[in-house]
Amino acid sequence: KLGDAKNANFPVDDRNAVYHLGVAKGELSSRILTVGDSERALKLKKELLEDVEEEKAHRGFVIHTGKYKGVRVSIVSIGMGTPMMDFLVREGRYVVDGPMAIIRYGTCGSIKDVEVGSLAVAESSILVRRNPDFWHCENNKDHSKCSPYDISKPVQADKELVGLLKNEFESSFKDRKTVVGINASADSFYSSQGRIDPEFDDNNEQLIDTIIEKYDNKVNTLEMETFQLYHLATRSKQPIKAAAATIILANRITQAFLDNNTKVKLEIEGGRACLEALIKINLN
Ligand code: URA
Repeated sequence: KLGDAKNANFPVDDRNAVYHLGVAKGELSSRILTVGDSERALKLKKELLEDVEEEKAHRGFVIHTGKYKGVRVSIVSIGMGTPMMDFLVREGRYVVDGPMAIIRYGTCGSIKDVEVGSLAVAESSILVRRNPDFWHCENNKDHSKCSPYDISKPVQADKELVGLLKNEFESSFKDRKTVVGINASADSFYSSQGRIDPEFDDNNEQLIDTIIEKYDNKVNTLEMETFQLYHLATRSKQPIKAAAATIILANRITQAFLDNNTKVKLEIEGGRACLEALIKINLN
């Protein structure tokens, strides 16, 4: 349990542990593999890490630090969404000295003609945000001026880390496709990913087509975290090399959904590929 927080601007406790991740300086590696699911993080730790340090679990974050092939790494589960990625990158930055590398390995939906169970590496990411003003504007004139969803410009991943990830995925998954391209992070699994929900007024029937057209059919994947990782990594004053890979769980065009056994297998094999890339990236 953390002690009382000090400093409302950037809360830390008596040990100088950050408020949400619950770790102090030295308790997180500069090489981080982040996943959404705490079960996935636990499996990866058991399967792949040695010399494991004390587990830290606080406010939905679980941190396993240990060695992969002799290199100290942290596997961190963060749950879902851009705010959780924001906590990881900002608070992680605070407790680590010097350059960092962060790889996200998650699941996603695809809006391309690609089979579920394929893998994707995100060279860049855009953000898709629901614009509440569209529904809550004062009069119809305003309403016609704004659109229900904003689609941002792309932010790039670290090129070297993307190259390493792509090589590791292509050599680990010879019988599966690895697609490399643009990812879209949305602020909802539902409305901003174009899922139709008859219970809500979402105005999103055209959204998937709009995303496809805006970026010339180069958007491969839809998920909820990568944009925030890339955006903050490129805005960090000290270097953070960031990249992301995903298992394609759902195909939004064909409506196919991956079976759980295959997903579990891909979690471990893909996690290993991510750790290989993570220990190869130069942080000097
Ligand atoms: N994660 C998402 O955010 N969307 C999907 O369709 C699948 C996984």
